[in-house]
Amino acid sequence: MFMKNFICLILAAGKGTRMKSNIPKVLHKILGKPMIEYVIEEVKKILFENIFVIVGYKKDEVKSYLEKYDLNFIIQEPQLGTGHAIMQAIPYIKDFDKDILILNGDMPLITSEILEDFLKFHKEKNANLSIVTAYLDNPFGYGRIIRENGKIIRIVEEKDAKEEEKKIKEMNAGVYCFNAKILEELVNLITNNTAQKEFYLTDCVKLAVNKNLNVEGFKVDSEYILGINTKEDLARIEEIIRKKILKELMLKGVIIKDPSSTYIEKEVEIGIDTVIFPQTYIIGKSKIGENCFIGPFCWIENTEIGNNVRIEGFSHIVESKIYDFVKIGPFCRIRPLSEIKEYAKLGNFVEVKKSIIGKGSKANHLSYIGDTEMGENVNIGAGTITCNYDGKRKHKTIIEDNAFIGSDTQLVAPIKIGKYAFIGAGSTITKDVPPYALALARARQVNIKDWVKRKFLKDDK
Ligand code: UD1
Ligand code: CA
Repeated sequence: MFMKNFICLILAAGKGTRMKSNIPKVLHKILGKPMIEYVIEEVKKILFENIFVIVGYKKDEVKSYLEKYDLNFIIQEPQLGTGHAIMQAIPYIKDFDKDILILNGDMPLITSEILEDFLKFHKEKNANLSIVTAYLDNPFGYGRIIRENGKIIRIVEEKDAKEEEKKIKEMNAGVYCFNAKILEELVNLITNNTAQKEFYLTDCVKLAVNKNLNVEGFKVDSEYILGINTKEDLARIEEIIRKKILKELMLKGVIIKDPSSTYIEKEVEIGIDTVIFPQTYIIGKSKIGENCFIGPFCWIENTEIGNNVRIEGFSHIVESKIYDFVKIGPFCRIRPLSEIKEYAKLGNFVEVKKSIIGKGSKANHLSYIGDTEMGENVNIGAGTITCNYDGKRKHKTIIEDNAFIGSDTQLVAPIKIGKYAFIGAGSTITKDVPPYALALARARQVNIKDWVKRKFLKDDK
């Protein structure tokens, strides 16, 4: 297939000075994923091999993020501009007689469809160099396309542009296609006589025109080519991608009450008729079934949730599994490695960590349940605490089916509460309780008759 007959270079060596950050620009995340990964994933859809990423600033960090993609890396050190970046790539690509697709690593809205159409366009036009362009109402910061009699003759960067040129609304998207031999020829001619003392890849256009080569512009809709240079751009593009994800979910049958305040990452799956209330974050590899109610103000991270589950307001759930018909919150916190089985209920101000809450069991108010294995239909009274930590190590609590734990009980682990055992409220339980037993571990109550009268009310008659 002709589509595979090209090489791709992705520019990712720059620091991203305008981001004002210690993180390399291309690693800034959009909905949990570095911006460069969006670009790579689109390229990967149309090209399996021969993808080269040019890295430089904090290159090891960038490479380690991209390990999973099976890419080739080219190092640019120091980073003297996009033209200089491509100079570093020449030795790796010169022996291929293929088209070279080049794109900036900071344009996460690009799609494989556009890239494919662009490559086709380049072939059909029999171009020596093609560039992707778009019209922007406010093209500030981008290179502008200078045309003469309709033909592209050069690109001028914002910093080098004259007032008249700054008014041009056609911009350079940062996606180029060259014949390999021509690329080598042109790149070697780039100089750094620019406002920035940088080697601009975009100078290839005027160099090509000087050589009477055929330069073609491929116009696309501006929504696909926005680049990220500042943290404001980052927020703007994150919003665009976030809305796309929400739209897809809604088209698949999810009800989202307030798309403007809902944050759901791309890998999240949600079943039909589930309702997401405002200000809810669902992130990582979370999966939510059908007919659930989630939110408002919930955080759900790497968690699997079954069908018909209610997660009420202000609940925070991380790396856990919630089964069908469970009810959680409001104000409930579930920490990693917890499993909440069918029909269980966890109410307000209940914290669960690394525990199994059995089918139909309930902890409705103000509890800490940690390192606990709980059976079915257990009742945990208000204020019950598992004392799982002795200052050095964590210990396990086992609570068997149908046990009843009275309010304000402390279960000092390691400990086992047998099935149907019954614990009186306010007990501090330090020894195992056998099945069916009543356990009481609290001081016996004493009522001293008329004590208040004697102590405080002596003069009263
Ligand atoms: C570049 C274009 C501009 C275009 C815009 C589109 C140039 C000179 N200008 O400008 O015409 O409108 O993209 O978004 O190319 N990089 C390197 N090595 C370097 C410098 C940059 O690999 O030495 C990488 C960056 O990591 C980034 C990409 O190249 O991914 C673009 O660099 P950036 O500095 O953002 O270029 P712009 O000023 O946006
Ligand atoms: Ca840029």
